[in-house]
Amino acid sequence: MTEVLMTVNGNAVNANVEPRTLLADFLRQELQFTGTHLGCEQGVCGACTVVVDGKVQRSCITFVADCDGAHVTTIEGFDDDPTMNELREAFSECHALQCGFCTPGMLTTARDIVLRLGDIPEPQIREELSGNLCRCTGYVGIVEAVRKVAAGKSPAAATAPISPSRTALGDARSPSLPTRAVDKPRPPRTLPADQPSAPANVADGGTSIEEHVRVAASPEQVWAVLSDLRRVVPCVPGAEISTLAGDDLTGKVRIALGPIKVAFSGQAKVGMDAARREGWMSGRGRDAGQGSSAEGTARWKVLADGPNASVIAVTLTWKLGGPLAQFNRAGLVRDIVRRLAAAFAGNLEAAITGAPRPAQAGAALGGFRLIWSIIKARLFPGS
Ligand code: FES
Ligand code: FES
Repeated sequence: MTEVLMTVNGNAVNANVEPRTLLADFLRQELQFTGTHLGCEQGVCGACTVVVDGKVQRSCITFVADCDGAHVTTIEGFDDDPTMNELREAFSECHALQCGFCTPGMLTTARDIVLRLGDIPEPQIREELSGNLCRCTGYVGIVEAVRKVAAGKSPAAATAPISPSRTALGDARSPSLPTRAVDKPRPPRTLPADQPSAPANVADGGTSIEEHVRVAASPEQVWAVLSDLRRVVPCVPGAEISTLAGDDLTGKVRIALGPIKVAFSGQAKVGMDAARREGWMSGRGRDAGQGSSAEGTARWKVLADGPNASVIAVTLTWKLGGPLAQFNRAGLVRDIVRRLAAAFAGNLEAAITGAPRPAQAGAALGGFRLIWSIIKARLFPGS
């Protein structure tokens, strides 16, 4: 056990914790600050955002032991904060929340944006908010609320710390201040196995995963579509071909992840080996608006899986830059790729059989419905 002394929402807290106790669990379970929500529990959705020594931080990936001597502020600690009160009103006026699950983290990040950056353009607000995901609102109201509160403010206007300076913590050890002792924390939740700080199978600075897509059609039928790029690319949600000449293609992929919406335009080279029913595609693209970049390689091979079924073994390697770089995390992207693979398989079967497509061609890859389904699956594994 490790002894920790910190202030939480202005009150001194003295606790003995397991070294692996996470700040979010500690705040919620021991101190009952349940406004700190837990969504993904891997540092992606931002629902657990709190302020630690004046900086926003994801409490689901912060150890309490690292907060010894720190000043922590949760959403409950902002009741008298003027900027937060402006934001609360603006969120209400702009319909920037529905279920409210993301709202404590969203407000905490929004407050940081307003104080740290002041009146910034909307694209920058969206980029700054990219670490906070909302399943309900579509972000228009959230961005509008932040823009409204930030309007006319300068970055220097309110950079004052929301809690006493760290050096003042010495006072917390004084008997004159109320100290809340927490001696018996619950057993710490261990980090999920697929949440390493470094993604699995990193090659050349990229992230790589392998996925198997089952399709109810013979390998010959599957290969007939897979070897025809003009038929197969529209099966990938959000992807479209612009030009195709020999083994060179140009095209677009639209992605919606959280408040970030990008449309990558790029080039790729394609190779096919019909005898082995194998193919590969390697390309890179850039989004002119947000400045995100992506490069990657896909390899696929069609294998028989029973009398009238096939498996497509796909290996993807990618590297994202700019605002989307946080989605390089293998755990989240693996979930996204699995769901996209299922959508792709459905579209591919439809392309083979002529049935209507279950996933609309042209719908953006990702989207908050997809992201939320992933977070929900992590929250409620049985659902
Ligand atoms: S719960 Fe912490 S970032 Fe999602
Ligand atoms: S308001 Fe429901 S998740 Fe954001």
